[in-house]
Amino acid sequence: MNKTFLVQEILRLKHEKNAVILAHYYQNEDIQEIADFIGDSLELAKKAQNTDADIIVFAGVLFMAETAKILNPDKKVLFPDWEAGCSLADGCDPEDFKMFKQQHPDHVVVTYINCAAEIKTMSDLVCTSANAKKIINSIPEDKKIIFAPDQNLGKYLEKETKREMVLWKGSCVVHEAFSLDKLIEIYKKNPTAKIAAHPESESHILKTAHYIGSTSGITNFVKTDPAAVFIVATEAGILHELSKAVPEKTLIPAPSKEDNTCACSECSFMKVNTLEKLYLCLKNETPEMVLPETLRKEALKPIERMLELS
Ligand code: 13P
Ligand code: SF4
Repeated sequence: MNKTFLVQEILRLKHEKNAVILAHYYQNEDIQEIADFIGDSLELAKKAQNTDADIIVFAGVLFMAETAKILNPDKKVLFPDWEAGCSLADGCDPEDFKMFKQQHPDHVVVTYINCAAEIKTMSDLVCTSANAKKIINSIPEDKKIIFAPDQNLGKYLEKETKREMVLWKGSCVVHEAFSLDKLIEIYKKNPTAKIAAHPESESHILKTAHYIGSTSGITNFVKTDPAAVFIVATEAGILHELSKAVPEKTLIPAPSKEDNTCACSECSFMKVNTLEKLYLCLKNETPEMVLPETLRKEALKPIERMLELS
């Protein structure tokens, strides 16, 4: 289908159905262009909480659409493709996590928002990369903590908060793919560059970074820091918004280990969403996120605690 037709139809249907399109920074550029709001996981959860639209179209991955539904039981939550998973969420099976929790009784359970609704029901607190330090620091010092499912974010938080935690051994396939050697090579050619990294990256990458933060944190850093060149270690979709916001700055995506043809890392889960799938889901009102009410209510509790704290 032709792009002009798709854009016109999405705008028409959105108006007709009182829908809002929320998109993560890692979405394809044409989806970012048509979205009503682009944000990181925390900003999108807050936006989903406060929208007065009847329909939320979530252009992101499944756990994000689930979070939107958990926060909005009375709204229709649509998303473009069931295949939009996440290596962190998919690597934390509820049955396995239940056993893991049993092995570590009397621990406060903090889970990164990148997990399934069932995992959230077993959590005391949820966090995103933007508020994780604050959430961990809110837990009394005498309490032991389980952190899941991202071990890289977990290790970073242990260092930052000086708390030891029991870590679930999950990781993000995109943020684990950065090559330290290639990054150093690029830095040697651009010695005045600032390196900005997402805390889902491995610790040897984080050690090189001048700034570590969530997707929106990195965006703000690049916009406000006076440096002219930045090496950005997160999913490459972020560069779309950034290059529009600071066209005068040079933005270099951090190179991945495997890929010799493209210098950057892309999340294949995020990228399954296309403008055509977005149009079809808005037109046909499917796929729709539906959750059993008891599961939704239980998953809501740790998300609400997070939102109160952030
Ligand atoms: P944030 O949106 O919190 O920066 O997380 C990045 C991510 O990997 C989302 O899936
Ligand atoms: Fe999951 Fe990583 Fe993709 Fe984010 S970038 S959706 S954490 S696989």
